[in-house]
Amino acid sequence: MHTPHPLQTNIGTLVLENPVMNASGVWCTTVEELNQIGHSQAGAIVTKSMTLKERSGNPEPRFTVEEGYSINSMGLPNPGVDYYCQHIKDLERGGKPVIASIAGFSVQEYTELMARVAEQPFDAVEVNLSCPNLEGKGIFAYDLETASKILEKLRGMLTKPMGVKLPPYLTRNEISQTAKRFIELGVDFVTLVNSYPLGCVIDADTRKLKIAPNGGVGGLGGKALKPIALGQVLLFDQESDHKLTIIGVGGVDSGRDVMEYLIAGASAVQIATALHTESPSIFKRINKELSLFVKEKNITSLADIIGTVQPAV
Ligand code: DHB
Repeated sequence: MHTPHPLQTNIGTLVLENPVMNASGVWCTTVEELNQIGHSQAGAIVTKSMTLKERSGNPEPRFTVEEGYSINSMGLPNPGVDYYCQHIKDLERGGKPVIASIAGFSVQEYTELMARVAEQPFDAVEVNLSCPNLEGKGIFAYDLETASKILEKLRGMLTKPMGVKLPPYLTRNEISQTAKRFIELGVDFVTLVNSYPLGCVIDADTRKLKIAPNGGVGGLGGKALKPIALGQVLLFDQESDHKLTIIGVGGVDSGRDVMEYLIAGASAVQIATALHTESPSIFKRINKELSLFVKEKNITSLADIIGTVQPAV
C-alpha cells in the first residue's frame, strides 16, 4: 500500500504535502511572489487579502521589523480581486493548493468577493475577518453576530473548504462562543491568529514613531506573538472539542515551533515575519528541521501528534 509522506496533513478536504505555508500578506501580493511560493517547498499558497477594488494601502513607513517582533499597518495594499481571478489559472503552483484570502468592508462586499473567487480554481477560501489596520473600521471578528451573518451567506456560496482568519481574543468565553458558532455555520477551518492590534514602536533618540499610519500603531507579529497565538490554538481546540481544523500563525521560525503548534491542536501553520526576513527558501529549512524532529521521535504521521498536548503535571 502507498505510505503517505510523514509530513502530509489535511485542511478539510485539502491534502498538503507538508504543514507549512505563507501567511496572507507576506510574499503573496503579485503573481511573481505567488509563483516563488509555488516553486518553494511550501505545503500550500495563500494570497494577499484581496479587496473588490485595487488599493495602494496606507502611507509609508508602514512596516518595521524589530528584535523579536514586527509591527505593520499596511492597509490592505493589493491589486484587487480581478487580478487574482485573471492570474489563478496560470499560477506556477507546483501542485500546491491555493487558498484565496478575501477582505471586504461590508457583508455585501464579502458576498461579491466570494461570488468572484468561488467560480475560479482556488482550492479554498480564507475569509479575513481580522484586519486591524483600517482606520475607523472595527474588526468584524470581534462582533460575533456580524461575523456570523457574513459567514452564513458565504458558506452557501462555496462547496470548497472555507476558513476564517481571526484576531486574538481576550477571554476563553469569547473563544468558546466563537468556536461553537463556527461549527454550526459549517466553517471548515480557522486561521489563528492575525497580528495583535495596536502595537507601537518609538525611537527614543528621535522620539519618532516607527510607522506612520493610524497615529503610529499597527499589528504585532513575529516571535512576540507566538505565546498568544499558541494559547488561541490550544483554547480553540479545547472549546471546539477538537472539531475545528486549525491553522496556527505567529512567530513560526523553526521545525520545533511547528511541532508546538501541532501539539496545541493545529493541523498546519503559516509564516509571516520570518518569511519576510528569510525569503521562500525558509520552507525548505523548516521542513528539514521538522523531518528530523519527527524522525527522532519515531512519529510516522503528523495526525498522531495534532492536539496531543499533555498537562504540566
Ligand atoms: C492588513 C493587515 C492584516 O493583519 C490583515 O489581516 C489584512 C490586511 C494590512 O494592513 O494590509
